[in-house]
This record gives sequence, structure tokens and C-alpha cells, in this order.
Amino acid sequence: MKHYRDIISSIEDKGLNRELRAIESLADGYCRFNGNKLVNFSSNDYLGILDNEQINHSFWKELQNRSDWKIMGAGSSRLLTGNTSLYDETEALLAKLYEAQSAIFFNSGYHANVGILSALTEKKDLILSDKLCHASIIDGIRLSSADHIRYRHLDYAQIETLLEQKRHLYRSVFIVTESVFSMDGDEANLQKLVSIKEKYDVYLYVDEAHAVGVKGEKGLGSCEEQNVINRIDILVGTMGKALASVGAYAVFSQLFRKVLVNKARTLLFTTALPSINMAWSKHVIEQIPTLHTQRKKLNDLSLLMSKSFTELGYDAHHSHIIPLIVGSNEAAVQLSLHLQQKGFLVFPIRPPTVPVNTSRLRFSLTSSIKEEYIHQLVQVIKESKAKA
Ligand SMILES: Cc1ncc(COP(=O)(O)O)c(C=O)c1O
Repeated sequence: MKHYRDIISSIEDKGLNRELRAIESLADGYCRFNGNKLVNFSSNDYLGILDNEQINHSFWKELQNRSDWKIMGAGSSRLLTGNTSLYDETEALLAKLYEAQSAIFFNSGYHANVGILSALTEKKDLILSDKLCHASIIDGIRLSSADHIRYRHLDYAQIETLLEQKRHLYRSVFIVTESVFSMDGDEANLQKLVSIKEKYDVYLYVDEAHAVGVKGEKGLGSCEEQNVINRIDILVGTMGKALASVGAYAVFSQLFRKVLVNKARTLLFTTALPSINMAWSKHVIEQIPTLHTQRKKLNDLSLLMSKSFTELGYDAHHSHIIPLIVGSNEAAVQLSLHLQQKGFLVFPIRPPTVPVNTSRLRFSLTSSIKEEYIHQLVQVIKESKAKA
């Protein structure tokens, strides 16, 4: 046991202790935490679907017309009896929306990235991933026997240099990126990545976790917005953020789908999702193309917040994810506690989630947030900056 006590002491000494907290989501961009009602600046429910009465109401109404959602567990993996027709319907819907040959649904974004990357790549292959890619991508790459190089964040010249030097040494090469980066809110230049992928004959893998729902006319993500949706080899979207559900999907060729159904361990060796979840996911996916008002509101709030942060002297880009980088772990913890006392829920993000010395507060906006809350938040940050 001493070993484990030492682990915890060392985490605490570095100011990196983490805890699970009970938080209740409330309407209108609020939540309840420690008995207090706070404005929620930490949710990834970007379009406010969790408390969207119309979508929730139409869901329950629709369910009255079918009976196959009532069993609250799946009973087995998708390869055995867990593959309900709701899976087939949802995948067909996704393939149609993305105009792709096929789609496949996983239990979460974590399952998707780990399962796909480890199944599609082997020895003789090379993976080039952005240095700031999410832990689930890193873990998928760790489980792969391919060689791996992390390129500097958004540094596409470095990718080209690496491909000039190494492309001929490998059978397949995969460039892996997020579209909107989860902890920084900045965005990949997908036009540029597509042109590189085509020039060097490599695959492009794009994780759209923080862009689906939010970006693009139909809310399909940055690939839609940047007009490259049909030129991405593997496009991953997650259901747990703007889509207010659980699970994740990938859209791609029939051939990749076949390989995953045979080889993706996070698909084969896990129980399928309950039908009620799949029914909700399908319902939300159907609504996404129509949610223009929410997307516009989120975009307006993002502009306001990034402009206000820039005026305060922070380096903020126009995004629904805005980091306020303070550097040390301790400073991030203190500022988050201060803001919580003032009525705003925001948490410190520390290593290993972000690189050492870049601890931050990560503000995520949702369309439920009112403009006045942003003005109030900015005022509080301004005052605490003046006192520091
Ligand atoms: C970029 C990215 N990919 C994947 C995931 C994992 O998705 P999920 O929460 O569905 O497991 C996350 C979520 O934290 C993420 O930010």
C-alpha cells in the first residue's frame, strides 16, 4: 500500500490532485455545485440540447410509435445479440448525411479512437499525429504496432518534411488530427491537410469531437464547413458533446468498416449500448441539420468572449472553447476557485491533459448561456487581474 500512498503524495505535491464532483445540470446555462447555482462554463453541451424541451418532447413522443427501445440493457456485444435495428438505422442515417459509403457506431469517442487506430495500422505503417491530440488518440496509437511521430501543433510544413523523408519507407501513412482542438479551441486547416494527403498518397484521420453539431451549415463539423467532407478517409464524431448523448461514430469506406467489424477490439469485446441510448442518439442526429439558431447564438457568444478576452490581454481565438492559460497548476486552481465563488463554474485543466506550464481554465460556451453572463465573467476576471 505504501506505493499507492506515495503515488497520491507525489500527485498532491505537484498540485495535480483530481476529484470527482457531483454537479447537477440546470436550465438556461446554469448548474448546481456544492449547493450553489452557478453559470456553467464547463459543459460540452454546446447546443444546449440537454435542456431543449422541444427535442426532448419530440423524442418521447416518437418512442410511443416503437417498442424496441424499452429494454434497458443490450445483453451482449454487437457481434452477438446487441446489434439492434436502431444501430443499423443510425449508421444508415449517418452515412446518408455525410454522403459516405458507410458508418459505424462505437460506445464512446474513447472506444472509437482506440479501436480504429489500433485496428487499421500495423508494422510497416507510420502515424503522424498532432502534438496536441486527445488522450484517446494517443492511447489508440500506443496500442498500434505502427511507427509514430508527433508533429508540432498545426505545423503542416513539418508534416511535409517528414513525408518527403519517410513516405517511401512505409506501406501506409496516417495523418491524425482533431478539427477543433479540445483544450485550445483552435482549428486544423483541413484544406491544407487534404492537399498534403493527396500529394503524398496518405490517409487523413480527423477527430471532429468538438466540431460536430457546431460547425458547418448542416452541423456535420469542420470538414463540412471547410468543404472537404468527401475527401477525408476516416472522420470520427462523438455523441457526448454537442450531440448530448453517448457513443461515437466513424464515417468512411465500406472496406474500412469491414476491417473494423473484424478487428476493432473496442467494438468486438464490449457490450453494445442500450437501445434507449441509440434511439436518443438517432433522434438528435436527425435534429442536428436544423439547429441553425443554436449554432448562430453559439457563434455570437464565441465572438463576444474571444473579443473580450483579447481586450484583457489574453491570446484568444474565435471559438466556443476558450482557454485562459495561466501557467502554473496552483494559479489555475486558485483562479477557478475564485470564479466559482463569484458564480461561474470553470475548472482548472492541468498536465497531463495539457503540456507542463500551460495549466489553464478552459471555458466552454453553450447556446444556453446568456450574453450578460459573459460580461459579468469578464468583469470579475478584469478585477482579479487588477489585484494580482
Ligand atoms: C478530441 C476528443 N476525442 C475523443 C474524445 C472522447 O470522447 P468520449 O467522451 O465520447 O469518450 C474526447 C472527449 O473528451 C475528445 O475531446
